[in-house]
Amino acid sequence: MMSGFAIDSVAVIGAGKMGTTLIHALLEEKSVSPDRITATRRKEEPLGRLAAAEGVSTTTSNREAAAGADLILLCVKPQGVSEVLSEIAGELGPNKLLVSIAAGVSTSLIEQSVPEGTPVVRAMPNTPSLIGKGMTAICAGRWASEDQVEQTRKIFAGMGRTVVLDEAYFNAVTGLAASGPAFIYIIIESLAEGGVKVGLPRHIATECAAQACLGAASMVLETGNAPALLKDDVTTPAGCTIDGILKLEEGGLRVTLIKAVVEAAKRAGELVG
Ligand SMILES: NC(=O)c1ccc[n+]([C@@H]2O[C@H](COP(=O)([O-])OP(=O)(O)OC[C@H]3O[C@@H](n4cnc5c(N)ncnc54)[C@H](OP(=O)(O)O)[C@@H]3O)[C@@H](O)[C@H]2O)c1
Repeated sequence: MMSGFAIDSVAVIGAGKMGTTLIHALLEEKSVSPDRITATRRKEEPLGRLAAAEGVSTTTSNREAAAGADLILLCVKPQGVSEVLSEIAGELGPNKLLVSIAAGVSTSLIEQSVPEGTPVVRAMPNTPSLIGKGMTAICAGRWASEDQVEQTRKIFAGMGRTVVLDEAYFNAVTGLAASGPAFIYIIIESLAEGGVKVGLPRHIATECAAQACLGAASMVLETGNAPALLKDDVTTPAGCTIDGILKLEEGGLRVTLIKAVVEAAKRAGELVG
């Protein structure tokens, strides 16, 4: 059983991209030693590679992994969740913590498939988590304690920023933080096309565009200033930036981005349930 922030043993069910990244975060954090982590997936070969690279135990039996762990990280695709839960339900209960990262799968849906009293925490990371620059939203199910939510938050903090919030916001956060990187890639790609149009070699244009986004994002996060204020600082009277902004406004960039988040959030609510 877990006490405080100490984790004794972890099962990572579905050690794919996210599951493996979580294993790295756990090992980096030194919150648990490799021999106390058991990773599962259906294919044995990648499990063998994972065991050799990270020193973790592996098995193709989800039930065996869950039986020996007090923290179970559920990292399979959303459509695989109910099958895995039916396999491991017998190993769950009030003394285990189940953390699911399956997009669109609510804590109440999970709670219907596990024994009463099983603490469930849901986390929604995004793809930049794979390189430690993620944004993860975290919420508690009905039986998870504040300590267990904080314990989960600390794990995901190893993959970037975290926010704990009510599950009612999860579709909104999915539309913004999870889909957002795709929107930004299109912005970077388009800015780079602009650079190419005015004569820059493509690789330089792409680097300038990406670094401009990274720098601007860091200014927002590190200064705490409103984006509008930071934009005003760049926009000198009769300078070149205001001419560019005029074109952005003509093209409806703001409205388009607002609508993109609204639509993505709406769709997130229609996914699994
Ligand atoms: N990638 C992201 O940025 C991101 C962001 C937010 C949320 N998520 C969520 O994270 C979860 C995993 O995503 P991912 O990108 O890491 O996918 P992934 O790389 O495909 O990983 C899923 C893993 O689950 C394993 N698996 C499938 N069925 C299984 C079963 N019955 N028992 C044990 N393992 C099983 C698969 O391996 P085998 O085929 O060998 O079984 C695979 O390695 C998804 O639910 C997704 O919604 C991902």
